[in-house]
Amino acid sequence: MLTIEEWVGTAMRVEGKVAVVTGAHRGIGRACAEILAREGAQVIACDILADDPGYDSAAIRFRRLDVGSESDWQALAGAIEAGPGRVDILVNAAGIAPTKAGAHDVTLTDWDHIVRVNQTGVLLGMRMASAIMLGKGSLSIVNISSIWGQVGGTGQIAYHASKGAVINMTRNAAVTYAKQGIRVNAILPGLIDTEMVRIQPPAMNAATLSLTPMGRIGLPEEIAAGVLFLASDEASFVTGATLAIDGGFTAQ
Ligand SMILES: NC(=O)c1ccc[n+]([C@@H]2O[C@H](COP(=O)([O-])OP(=O)(O)OC[C@H]3O[C@@H](n4cnc5c(N)ncnc54)[C@H](O)[C@@H]3O)[C@@H](O)[C@H]2O)c1
Repeated sequence: MLTIEEWVGTAMRVEGKVAVVTGAHRGIGRACAEILAREGAQVIACDILADDPGYDSAAIRFRRLDVGSESDWQALAGAIEAGPGRVDILVNAAGIAPTKAGAHDVTLTDWDHIVRVNQTGVLLGMRMASAIMLGKGSLSIVNISSIWGQVGGTGQIAYHASKGAVINMTRNAAVTYAKQGIRVNAILPGLIDTEMVRIQPPAMNAATLSLTPMGRIGLPEEIAAGVLFLASDEASFVTGATLAIDGGFTAQ
């Protein structure tokens, strides 16, 4: 039940919560870190890039972390145990799409690298946060999948496979921990204006855009708005959901 203050929209939406966001140096992850901080969370912003990008809010602390590294997650768990002692929100946004290769030409090196970051990275994050919070309190995990985790596209088989896996890992964890205060949801972004897209062949982006009913590219902030909702107590009865923020792409 919302208080009157919450109802009129003056309360911050994740006030006092501790959040971990991966892939937070730039793009979608950064927008998530910024909006969570603006809405009252203390944010640990993690990325494989070593330098602190400089955030708008003093409530965001940068930490170097490779999501595919078990020891990096263990070190973060130690820092959290020694510090706030809890994680209320985990946003798994780190991801890579370095090759366009399909089933006939993908190398095992590329396959393993993409699965390591996009899929195993999500597992390691969920493992760390749920291990800390099980039996202690509630936790909201938001995994950034993709429209390509739900529908088929051309090439990029490793990326599509990893994003599909994230959707079912989300559902599995949601069901497994539903009675223990851990909610797990996934967001499926469509084409979003970030570095990942900017370095792709323009023809590839144009093809996705031509299939997007709204006819435009999305903004990282439009994904972050969905993350904020799922992370907050407003989504207290939402778990195992896949929220497409894609300009209508997957509605077709
Ligand atoms: N941009 C899109 O159109 C789009 C669409 C669907 C899904 N996504 C997903 O959204 C997420 C964010 O992507 P983005 O568009 O902001 O891309 P981006 O490339 O701008 O940002 C990705 C961030 O992840 C970080 N990262 C990469 N590997 C890492 C690792 N091993 N450990 C920690 N951090 C790592 C990068 O340094 C970067 O800061 C990704 O999971 C991506 O697959 C993006």
